[in-house]
Order: sequence, then structure tokens, then C-alpha cells
Amino acid sequence: METVSLTIDGKKITAHEGEKLLSVALDNAIYIPNLCALQDNSESAAACRLCFVEVEGREEPVTACTELVAEGMVVNTRGARALRLARSAFELLMASHPVDCAHCAKKDSCELQKIAHHLNVKLKSKRFRKLLRELPVDDSNPLFILDPNKCVLCGRCIWVCRERLGIGVLGFAHRGFERVITTFAGEPLGESRCQECGDCVRICPTGALAFKDGNGK
Ligand code: FES
Repeated sequence: METVSLTIDGKKITAHEGEKLLSVALDNAIYIPNLCALQDNSESAAACRLCFVEVEGREEPVTACTELVAEGMVVNTRGARALRLARSAFELLMASHPVDCAHCAKKDSCELQKIAHHLNVKLKSKRFRKLLRELPVDDSNPLFILDPNKCVLCGRCIWVCRERLGIGVLGFAHRGFERVITTFAGEPLGESRCQECGDCVRICPTGALAFKDGNGK
């Protein structure tokens, strides 16, 4: 595979042709906020809209999870226009996310906290009206709970269960504000084909999937 040379935030980097900009940046210790991309998943849904960066010569910021690296590319992950878009997406996401970090199983590993810190925005933003969903928590699985109120619909759990493990217990249902992660026909997790490996909990960026023993990681 051909190699390409590019610059991200002033750092000279060598990558392989065909690699996604987000993966290359993360592999080189340059953090770009992201929720819906998986480093080993070649197709990103580009749904969270958090990974905007600016590329020299491009009119508008681009999503790093869909952008392929190119020879001579010059990337700025901290450009004002890219940050403005990412901040808006994050504040919109947080408008429907409960903020009760002290009582959340993922309080020490939550990616929302990391993103808020990186973007320099508060978890409790007043910019958009708060609209919580108040959905029931599924605690029927002996190992972990599914709290759809804390779900950011990144799809990581669906991917890990289906693509990596070949089981496919979880999937998306409904559209728009009603959209949720659920089991087939909405059955409780405890009655599903879940094999309790816990990989979906470990890959979940928030407290939506959390181990019952309190180990949030
Ligand atoms: S990580 Fe790029 S849009 Fe979600």
C-alpha cells in the first residue's frame, strides 16, 4: 500500500493511502472528538457530527471519520469553523442527555466528559432546550443494564455485537427523537440471545450500557 505524507496541527505524519483522517490522527496522539466512528470499521455513519476539521484548500470543514488522507494534506483540528460545528453538535446531543455524573457508572471513563473538556463547553449547556426522554431502564440481563436515556446512538454496541461477535442482539429502532437501541422485537436483554460477553458495555462511550457490579469500564 502506498504511503502519503500529511500535516495535522503542524505535526508531519506518514500514513497509508486509503486510511481515514480520524484514525490517522488518533493513532498519532492527536485527539479529534468522535462517537460514531470505529477505528476498524471502514464505513462511518458520520452521524454524531463531532469530528469536524479544516483542510487547507477546502471551503468547508469536513468530517475526519469520512475523509481519506491524501499526499500533502494540511489539516487543522482546532480551526474556529470546525470547532463551532462540533460544539453545536455536542450541545444538541447533550440537550437530550441526562447529566447526573456523580451517580453514573461511567463517571470515570465517560467520553462525553472528555469531549466537553476538549471543546471547552459545559455538559449542561443552556443553548438548547433540555428535552429528556424518560425511557425505562432494562436491567433484565444479569451482567449489565441498558439505560436508553444515556444512549448517544453512536451504534458502537450494535457494531461490536454483530460485526465482531456475529451475534446481532442489538439494533436501532424508530426514527428522529424516538430513535433507540433495542433488542429484536424489543424483548428484554435477559430474554435475548445475549451471551453476556460484556463487549458492548466496554465499547459504549457513556453510561448507557454499564456493568451491574459498578465497574464502568
Ligand atoms: S465520528 Fe465523525 S461524524 Fe461521528
